[in-house]
Amino acid sequence: MEKIGILTSGGDAPGMNAFIRSVVRTSIYRGAEVYGIKNGYKGLLEGKVDRMVESSVGDIIQRGGTILGTSRSDKFMTEEGIRRALSILEVFGITKLIVAGGDGSLKGALELGKRGVDVIGAPLSIDNDLGYTDYSIGFFTAVNTVTSAISKIRDTTESHGRAHVVEVMGRNCGDIALYSGLASGAESIIVPERKLNLDDIVKRAIKTKERGKRHHIIIMAEGAGSSYDLAEKFSDLTQIETKVTVLGYLQRGGEPNVIDRIMGSTMGEMSVNHIMDNLGSYAIGNKKGEIKIYDLEEALSVKKEFKDNLADIMKVISI
Ligand code: F6P
Repeated sequence: MEKIGILTSGGDAPGMNAFIRSVVRTSIYRGAEVYGIKNGYKGLLEGKVDRMVESSVGDIIQRGGTILGTSRSDKFMTEEGIRRALSILEVFGITKLIVAGGDGSLKGALELGKRGVDVIGAPLSIDNDLGYTDYSIGFFTAVNTVTSAISKIRDTTESHGRAHVVEVMGRNCGDIALYSGLASGAESIIVPERKLNLDDIVKRAIKTKERGKRHHIIIMAEGAGSSYDLAEKFSDLTQIETKVTVLGYLQRGGEPNVIDRIMGSTMGEMSVNHIMDNLGSYAIGNKKGEIKIYDLEEALSVKKEFKDNLADIMKVISI
C-alpha cells in the first residue's frame, strides 16, 4: 500500500486546512495510507508523524491556520538534516510527500525529491511570490483582510483629514499591496518591484487635497523599506499629518475565503492523484484559472513577474 506524507511549512496561510482535508480524503479514496507530519520540516526531523483518517480532517475547511502546525527549520536545509529526514520517512515507509508552503518550503521538497522521494510542492503562502503560479492559496484571503482593514482606516483618516501609511506583508513581493490597493481604492502603493517616486506621490497628495480630498492612503509593502521613515518624509513634504498602521500577523489568520477553499480542495485532490500515478518531483499551480502540474525544479526557477498593468490602472483611477 502506498504511504503518502503531508506537511505544511513556513508561514501559515488561510486555506491550508482545506488543502490538508482534500489530501487526506483523496488519499484514502485512492486506497493509500496518509500520514500527517507535525510542525513542518522541524517535526519531520523529530519523527512527529501520525496516521490520519477521514475524521482527522473533519470540521476544518472553514478554519485558518494549519491543524498540522508549521515552522521554519534551518536545520532541515543542511546535509545532516536532509539525511535525517530521509531516514525518518523510511522508518514510516513514506515514499511520497506532499509539501504545502511558500518558496523555501518547496525548495526543501526539491532536496528530498533529488534523493528519491516522490514529491509535490503546493503553493500556500499569503505572499504570492512564486513565479510559476498566478496565485498561491491564502493570498486572496489576506488581500480581503487587508482591504477590509483599509476601509476602517479610511473612515478615521477621512474624518481627521490625514494621510495614512499602511504596511502590509509580502516579504520581497508587492502583490498584497498591489491587489489590496486596487481593491480598496488606496491613493498610492509602494512596492519593492518599482522604484519609489516620492515626488510623484507627494504631488498627487497635494493636488487631491487642494481639490478637497480629505484622505490619502499609501499602502507600503514590507519589502519596500520603513513605513515610519516614509510617513515622516511624506508628512514633511506635504504638511499633511500622517499616521502609520502596520497590519502584521492579522493578515495571516482568519477564515479562508471561497477562492482559497476551492483552490485548496482542487489542488489537494490533484496533488494526490498525480503523486499516486507518477514518480518524480512536481509542483502544482494555477495558470490562467487552470490547475496544472509542473516540474518542481523548473517551477522554482521561474521569476515572479510584477503586474505593472494593475499598478498603472490604480494610478489612473485612484485620484
Ligand atoms: O511568508 C509569509 C510571511 O507572513 C511574510 O509575509 C512575512 O515576512 C513572514 O512570513 C513573517 O514570518 P514569521 O512568521 O517567521 O515571522
